[in-house]
Amino acid sequence: MKVITTINEMQNEILKHKELGMSIGFVPTMGFLHEGHLTLISKARKENDVVVVSIFVNPLQFGPKEDFSTYPRDFDRDRALAEGEKVDYLFYPSVEEMYPREPSVKVMVQERTDVLCGKSRPGHFDGVATVITKLFHIMMPTRAYFGKKDAQQVAVIDGLISDFNFPVHLIPVDIVREKDGLAKSSRNVNLLAEEREQAPIIYKSLQTAKKAIDDGEINPAVLTTMIKELITSESNGEIDYVEILSYPFLKPLEKIEGSLIIAVAVKFSKVRLIDNIMIQID
Ligand code: PAF
Repeated sequence: MKVITTINEMQNEILKHKELGMSIGFVPTMGFLHEGHLTLISKARKENDVVVVSIFVNPLQFGPKEDFSTYPRDFDRDRALAEGEKVDYLFYPSVEEMYPREPSVKVMVQERTDVLCGKSRPGHFDGVATVITKLFHIMMPTRAYFGKKDAQQVAVIDGLISDFNFPVHLIPVDIVREKDGLAKSSRNVNLLAEEREQAPIIYKSLQTAKKAIDDGEINPAVLTTMIKELITSESNGEIDYVEILSYPFLKPLEKIEGSLIIAVAVKFSKVRLIDNIMIQID
């Protein structure tokens, strides 16, 4: 595995492989790799000739009160994990390399951001779309892999790819779960013991809603109330949102139909957990 820190060298390496007609699988990350990332990387490894992982904590997507400087970083551990997954290139640029000056052009996301997590993080998805635009130009990937746990991010990237005509296949990868259904996240370690026991109710409540839909419920308000009641009755978590929206357009639904997402965010004492399920009604 080769570690590359400059854009020039990275682009030149990619171009050599493209000239030989090889496919490029790209997994963008902010590092501190966990099992969710490794699932994306192993899928990329199976489906492409060359696998590139980027590690870049992107300052543009952090708000002024957010944790850019304290975001966890452990490059040596990440390098060992990436090597274990047979990654070909690890792209690890500095902030100065990616943004040598205040960018004269930034991407502004107009749709799909005024709901879910985007509501409380103004500008966050502009930062994500800007860095992904740069990374797509550097990697020229055949396929790019994103976890469905960040479903709103997947929806925003889907819009970016289609509106800017990137010749990239977006590959959303299923959420990896613990045995009891809790979505895996590096943040789960911040749950108190009692909260960890309660947290699986989030996924259980989503499954209960899915069952109600299968049994014929078509009213989103009934379903959101059902989810909220289950979570509040079986945990100390404070509900941030429960939303049922069309997917990937993220528009409110009058009734359950088409392609949709049910997404939940719950605040525990030291950590806020998100989870979702996607449903296709034919
Ligand atoms: O999901 C992330 O880790 C980041 O938002 C991403 C996609 C790497 C862009 O910085």
